[in-house]
Amino acid sequence: MAHQNIAILGATGNIGQELAKQISLKDAPYLGKNENPTNIIAMAGRGGFVLKQGGIEIQNDPGLIAELQGIDRKLASNGQPRTAFKNWLKGQPGYQEGQAKDLFDKIVKLGLIDDVVFVDLTADDLTEVHQQIIEAKGSIVTANKIPVAQSSWEVFQTLTRLRRKYAFSCSVMAGSGAVPYLQKCFDLKDEVLSIEGCFSGTLGKLCNLLHEGKITFSEAIRQLKAAGDTEPDARDDLSGMDVARKIVVLARAAGYKVDLQNVVVAPFIPEGFEDLAASRCNPEEFMEKCSVLNEIMADKFREVKGRGMTLKYVATLKIEDGVPKLTVGLREEELNSPLGSLKGNANKVLIYTDTDSDIPWDLGSGGSGIKRTAKNVRGDLRDIQISIAA
Ligand SMILES: NC(=O)c1ccc[n+]([C@@H]2O[C@H](COP(=O)([O-])OP(=O)(O)OC[C@H]3O[C@@H](n4cnc5c(N)ncnc54)[C@H](OP(=O)(O)O)[C@@H]3O)[C@@H](O)[C@H]2O)c1
Repeated sequence: MAHQNIAILGATGNIGQELAKQISLKDAPYLGKNENPTNIIAMAGRGGFVLKQGGIEIQNDPGLIAELQGIDRKLASNGQPRTAFKNWLKGQPGYQEGQAKDLFDKIVKLGLIDDVVFVDLTADDLTEVHQQIIEAKGSIVTANKIPVAQSSWEVFQTLTRLRRKYAFSCSVMAGSGAVPYLQKCFDLKDEVLSIEGCFSGTLGKLCNLLHEGKITFSEAIRQLKAAGDTEPDARDDLSGMDVARKIVVLARAAGYKVDLQNVVVAPFIPEGFEDLAASRCNPEEFMEKCSVLNEIMADKFREVKGRGMTLKYVATLKIEDGVPKLTVGLREEELNSPLGSLKGNANKVLIYTDTDSDIPWDLGSGGSGIKRTAKNVRGDLRDIQISIAA
């Protein structure tokens, strides 16, 4: 197999930086020696990119990547914007201002579209760019769930028609395997009867911290954000929308024609305060406002704990009279139940099918996590490479 060229959209973010680091340590040293090394030919941040056909040098310098990553982590933990990797990118020879679409156009113009896999590690609505890439017969690996969950069913089908061209396993459970399993059920006509699970490492960890009761709600959010464990805007987690998108992705992977509008979402934020999650203040102002919920959330978790139970943020798909019903919300769980016993930011999905109607297919994973997601992005890249070579 030849090496695999990739263009990273969102290269300056948590996963983008980690992906570059893993490639620099595990793939780039093997260019020309290994069967399937990855070669980063383009890196794009918001507003600009670098494209170098032979490969961008930083992938041969894991030390520099680690240094920039370290500075950015420190900035984030002090509540400041991460600027180190962005500034490095902007300082590269050939840096060009432009959007993801401009990078795509340039790659097409250079006749490289057949020889590049785009990796979407943004949290932006890049649906149109995904469509253009697929229409041009290009390939995509995405951890960004927006084009998969928020597009129309028709667009979803167009994007995902060819498995070897479009891999979206990292959009749920950091790529642990729920999406490919459901695609396999669909292909084998093993009807999926129900799905339930905890798909947010962030909300799982938050539930566990609030169950322990040692720190306040606002402090817990701050810690999670600083560690890169929340969505870029923590409101996407707290509003329940991130989990809603994930159950849509899983339902669609199983072949159900559902949209985000079909999900009945009860936000993590208690009733009466939903406006806080929906408010359009900037993410930092939002973090400050969170403290108004400290007492309410502490009481809520304490009361449930007092009854020997715990709260988890659970997403479900159930088929009722042939119609898929999707819900997302906090649910009381027994402490020793499969979902109630989840620790840290662990995720779990339980899937009942025609064949597995008594004991569910049960997949646990460490949940969100920058390293895990970057590894599984590389796994999706490998699968695409293998299927192209076959
Ligand atoms: N963190 C996890 O554990 C995890 C697990 C699974 C999946 N995911 C998904 O992976 C994606 C990335 O997560 P993350 O934690 O790495 O987020 P992040 O740190 O915020 O990184 C996103 C990056 O994308 C850049 N960006 C935004 N819009 C862009 C555009 N239109 N073109 C090019 N670059 C753009 C951002 O630049 P600016 O900083 O300038 O905005 C930022 O550098 C998200 O969709 C997330 O849902 C994350």
